[in-house]
Amino acid sequence: MSDHSQVKMTDMNYDKKRPAADNPVKVMDLTLRDGHQSLFATRGRTEDMIPVAELMDEVGFWAVETWGGATFDTMHRFLNEDPWERIRTLKRYFKKTPFSMLLRAQNLVGYRNYSDDLAKAFVDRAAANGMDIFRTFDALNDYRNFETVVPVIKECGKHFQGCICYTMTEPRLGGDVYNLDYYIKKAKALEAMGADSICIKDMAGLIAPYDAYKLVKELKQNVKPPIHLHSHFTSGMSPMSHLKAIEAGVDIIDTCMTPYAYRTSHAAIEPMVMTLLGTDRDTGFDIRHLAKINEILEKEILPKYKHLLDTSKVSIIDINVLLHQTPGGMLSNLVNQLREMDALDKIDEVYKELPRVRKDLGQIPLVTPTSQIVGIQTVNNVLFDDENERYKMITGQVKDLCYGLYGKTAVPINPDIQKKALKGYERGEEPITCRPAEVLEPELAKAQEEIKGLAVDLDDEILYAIYPVTGKKFLKWKYGKEEPPESVKAKTLEEALAEEELVKKALAGELIEKPAKEVPAKGENSRTFNVFVDDEYFEVGVDEVGGTPLVSYVQPQVVQAPVAAAPQAPAAAPQAPAAAPPKTPAAAAPAAPAPADSGAVEGTKLTAPMPGMIVKYEKQVGDTVEEGETMVILEAMKMENALPAPASGTVKAINYGSGDSVSKDDVLCVIG
Ligand code: CO
Repeated sequence: MSDHSQVKMTDMNYDKKRPAADNPVKVMDLTLRDGHQSLFATRGRTEDMIPVAELMDEVGFWAVETWGGATFDTMHRFLNEDPWERIRTLKRYFKKTPFSMLLRAQNLVGYRNYSDDLAKAFVDRAAANGMDIFRTFDALNDYRNFETVVPVIKECGKHFQGCICYTMTEPRLGGDVYNLDYYIKKAKALEAMGADSICIKDMAGLIAPYDAYKLVKELKQNVKPPIHLHSHFTSGMSPMSHLKAIEAGVDIIDTCMTPYAYRTSHAAIEPMVMTLLGTDRDTGFDIRHLAKINEILEKEILPKYKHLLDTSKVSIIDINVLLHQTPGGMLSNLVNQLREMDALDKIDEVYKELPRVRKDLGQIPLVTPTSQIVGIQTVNNVLFDDENERYKMITGQVKDLCYGLYGKTAVPINPDIQKKALKGYERGEEPITCRPAEVLEPELAKAQEEIKGLAVDLDDEILYAIYPVTGKKFLKWKYGKEEPPESVKAKTLEEALAEEELVKKALAGELIEKPAKEVPAKGENSRTFNVFVDDEYFEVGVDEVGGTPLVSYVQPQVVQAPVAAAPQAPAAAPQAPAAAPPKTPAAAAPAAPAPADSGAVEGTKLTAPMPGMIVKYEKQVGDTVEEGETMVILEAMKMENALPAPASGTVKAINYGSGDSVSKDDVLCVIG
């Protein structure tokens, strides 16, 4: 089929008639960062980028985005990959195309403002490892949060791209806060800071084509640096917005290779190449070369990731963006959070509450981390508030925001909410107005001391400083101090295809309840696969006999409590661990009897109000605690929730440790 299409293209012979463009549109490719971040939960592995790297280097992209955003977090947490190593590895294949990263300004690649010493070290190391362009944004568009990182970018001789987060309070560009004036002022501020280029960062796909035209036209007239448009496809408007922005003179646009395009990702490059062909803004790209890259991605890479694509809806456009101006990623996070808490029926209330929370919190743009801050607070309000009290459970990050730790909000924060949030706040009840990092103690040396003996170099130390809990876990895997779990291991294309086939069969009902007595003797080459079908988990052994894969057994996995010795299924594969790991450790807990240490303990139980990960316990067994005092910090949707002690007394039992996942209603500790 592909041969046929290639023949046709050769027949068209369009190269001959193609004039060189006067002002070619420059293109940055996002496939290797925002593309898989948007569509495949940032799970792209370095080994799956290498097969196309050299071909992509030949396209003529202005830059390729390879790092930053969520990659740093996801790589070490879920992929057992060193994020720094990715830059160095890919750099060996990309010999001429510059690398770009998404830097969350003083938030670096995390979810809060870090101290100046850590921020400087991070940028310096990113540059040393091979980063060329630093696309820098602040979630509040408060450029005081650029003041530390920008001079380091410049000192390293790298490109500083300043972003304006595009957000709105009206259906179209305008209103009291985020109007044309606002954006022009921001662009001028970036120019004054020495921006080498200016990016309109439309993370939710909100910019409408005629607004893009108007905005780009104005920016081109008011500032000198090249203008770059980053607009997600989510709402369906971005290809039109690209075209209008190009007509208005935009210098650079962002696209993805087709298999990584559309939905909450970005428009594809190929239609744009054909659209501009022969015009004065012709990209000059060879469509046949792009087709070659696509074929590799489609056939050799995507089968490993397809299962991560959200195909719950047929439509590739999320009209909620048009209705509620809610960023696509944020919405799916909210839906997941509600689903895990059995509260999906509350989604309409969430839609209603969201703009109220956003307004209370200073009408802030919704982008990482503010989208999570506003999102989880909204969910908390909908689930825990009653008619007598609003903001019953305020997250740690909302408190930080109210204190001024993220920067200045577009409009003042609702003073009542601010007062409530800061009551008893550890840094003080009076909010700050200075640059946030000014009140942050240096933190790198402290982190270095803590991770001594495990970290080998500065890159390790920075990783730990930004992600203490998961970073430490990763460093143990990296240096062989701990065996990484199965879940972080890569799978091969063959395994992915075999799994896909098994899922198809399972869904068709062909794999159900095969009696144990029919199981043939297991061959020497038997391999074990974990197959997830909706909420069910099967362990599947596959024997290859005479080249034809034969399903030797399918074993629905029931998670056993550690105390009850599980009778082993007769056909259990020998290489599988005695108790196969459940889908998530937390999923097991509700079905299992309460752990021995808390089951026997009398007292008031503190249960998890939501699923999440334990960051830390503030008290130990034997400590006395006052009712209302913070007992546990629970991370949910990246936000930290301080859970108060439900009663005064002595801590009798603590059931989890730092880094453990818990489900809603799990007993975290007992106070008696
Ligand atoms: Co983006």
